Amino acid sequence: MHYPSLFTPLQIGPYHLSHRVAMAPLTRMRADTSSLAARALNAEYYAQRATQGGLIIAEASQVTPTGRGNPDTPGIYSRAQVAGWKQVTDAVHAKGGIIFLQLWHVGRASHSSYQPDGVLPVSASAIAISGKTRTASGDIAPYEVPRALRTDEIPGIIEAYRQGARNALEAGFDGIEIHGANGYLLEQFLQSRSNLRIDRYGGSIENRARLLLEVVDAAIEVWGADRVAVRLSPYGVANDSGEADPMPLYSHVIGQLAPRGLAYLHFVEPRSSGAGRSEVNHTDVPAAFELFRPLWPGVLITAGGFDGASAEAAIASGNVDAIAFGRTFIANPDLPERIRKNAMLTPYDRATFYGGDVAGYTDYPFQEAE
Ligand SMILES: Cc1cc2nc3c(=O)[nH]c(=O)nc-3n(C[C@H](O)[C@H](O)[C@H](O)COP(=O)(O)O)c2cc1C
Repeated sequence: MHYPSLFTPLQIGPYHLSHRVAMAPLTRMRADTSSLAARALNAEYYAQRATQGGLIIAEASQVTPTGRGNPDTPGIYSRAQVAGWKQVTDAVHAKGGIIFLQLWHVGRASHSSYQPDGVLPVSASAIAISGKTRTASGDIAPYEVPRALRTDEIPGIIEAYRQGARNALEAGFDGIEIHGANGYLLEQFLQSRSNLRIDRYGGSIENRARLLLEVVDAAIEVWGADRVAVRLSPYGVANDSGEADPMPLYSHVIGQLAPRGLAYLHFVEPRSSGAGRSEVNHTDVPAAFELFRPLWPGVLITAGGFDGASAEAAIASGNVDAIAFGRTFIANPDLPERIRKNAMLTPYDRATFYGGDVAGYTDYPFQEAE
């Protein structure tokens, strides 16, 4: 059998990708501080990274004010935010790009300083993330014990995702990706160490998976399944996550998602989480895309520490259909072209990942014109 290469076209849902070098969702904390709407600078950044038929997954965007846990992350719940994102999608479409929005609720990975009225953040259960976070005033403080959502509040969470999905459609996105990874709210429900609930959203694997699946179904009602995607990190350890035995849980989740006919499933590989404030490269960890490929009949995307050569090898193995690049896409706006030409890559500067302005955002160079 002849397997494709990174530059073989790929169909995702109704969209025709001309290559398989996707831009991973990347929180950059540069939305407008008061409205939390994307601004012209954000449109410029995404347009720089758009290619004809290339997939961009825009950064995680909170679906409700309670879903925020960091400064200046964009939202997708207000009129101003819809208008802000519209400038981004217009700029990307003008370059022929395809752009999905990642829908986010951080759950307990927040702090009361980010919450409306300064209340505690919410989660599946009243269990704090160990360690410290940066508060809205910039101080370093321990994570707080979150407030467990009442069962009767869960429909409101699903409605927030549904409205976020509607807003993303109105803002001109081509699809949405539900953020079920990296220790945020949906993963807090999925995993047993953060979910000790005794209602229908906790306990058994079926119950812990229920919220994610109900959110996905709400998104499908708005978009149709072939423009909805899900991101999971079965072996991740971000934000104090980590299921002791991921295989049964994630086999169930992926098995439930498979017949829904989604645009794609997207993994964060555990060997390199990439986010956070320092480099973490785990060794001796499984490759999620290899393990779960047999359970996923649709398009599979993965991310985590790839370069051109390892991405090419992964695609050629037939175990994954596209590779999302995070850190190298930050520093190389023309990454697909550089990979195609095997050109030098500009190193990224971690100090400018989160927050700030132009520096480390829109000022990375393009390859010299030939
Ligand atoms: C600055 C930064 C911000 C990130 N923000 C997000 C995010 O908003 N949503 C998400 O699912 N993953 C996020 N990630 C993880 C990346 O999408 C990606 O999975 C990770 O960086 C591994 O890919 P890489 O090795 O190519 O960087 C972030 C990573 C970095 C470095």
